[in-house]
Amino acid sequence: MEVKIKPTYEEMSRAAAQEVAHLLNTKPNAVLGMATGSTPLGLYQELVRLHREEGLDFSQVTTFNLDEYVGLAPSHSQSYHYFMHENFFQHVNMPKQNIYIPSGNTGNYPAFCNWYERRIEECGGIDIQILGIGSDGHVAFNEPGSSLTSRTRLKTLAKQTIDDNARFFDKPEDVPIYAITMGVGTILEASELLLLANGENKAWAVGAAIEGPVTGMVTASALQMHPNAKVYLDDPAAAQLKMREYYDWIEEHRPGAPQYY
Ligand code: F6R
Repeated sequence: MEVKIKPTYEEMSRAAAQEVAHLLNTKPNAVLGMATGSTPLGLYQELVRLHREEGLDFSQVTTFNLDEYVGLAPSHSQSYHYFMHENFFQHVNMPKQNIYIPSGNTGNYPAFCNWYERRIEECGGIDIQILGIGSDGHVAFNEPGSSLTSRTRLKTLAKQTIDDNARFFDKPEDVPIYAITMGVGTILEASELLLLANGENKAWAVGAAIEGPVTGMVTASALQMHPNAKVYLDDPAAAQLKMREYYDWIEEHRPGAPQYY
């Protein structure tokens, strides 16, 4: 796992966006795994800027989103369909038919989930999966206690997640209780994982995910099992890392390291 700590949210977002831009410049038809929530907003803004000002091209890109609330129409202002359209898709040249987001309104969830998994495979798998982390350590909506080999499925949200997300809804009771989410096993199959976290309310989860034991109680800890996982943090989110000095030391010496590094 590579841990890269930046002084601010903006610097963290720009650095993470460079990872995505580098992929698209070398593989224009890349498959991206997308996350929603407040964390990746800066990354999406930077990708939009790179598209507008530097011609970063999304015309051959395919995307798969991690998750969606069950019961919200795509037009609902808190649905992840709406979020992605508002914050990213409408600002870049992504072909509509290349955008995949789990359906929160299907009549048959198991069949939809199987189809979603198959589509990822048929598109060649995900090249970079963007991830946030919940304050309880979840990735996507894989709540504490999820199997680390889980696949896309319907999931009941934890009380903590519902409370955390209540800030986006008019009333706490409006927050959906169920979501459809890629599984931890699905996520681990991406070629590269890019986890972002900012703010001190993520410090515990970040410490547990990076330096704690691998456990289904903190599903982000499964990233430790991935051969190419990068974690971008701002300073406050890194506050509980015991090995902070070593991570900074590695980054400082990376330019001089032999090529195979
Ligand atoms: C959203 C997702 C969630 C969020 C996490 C953090 O697609 O997969 O796991 O990444 O809940 O949310 P924010 O970024 O709002 O703190």
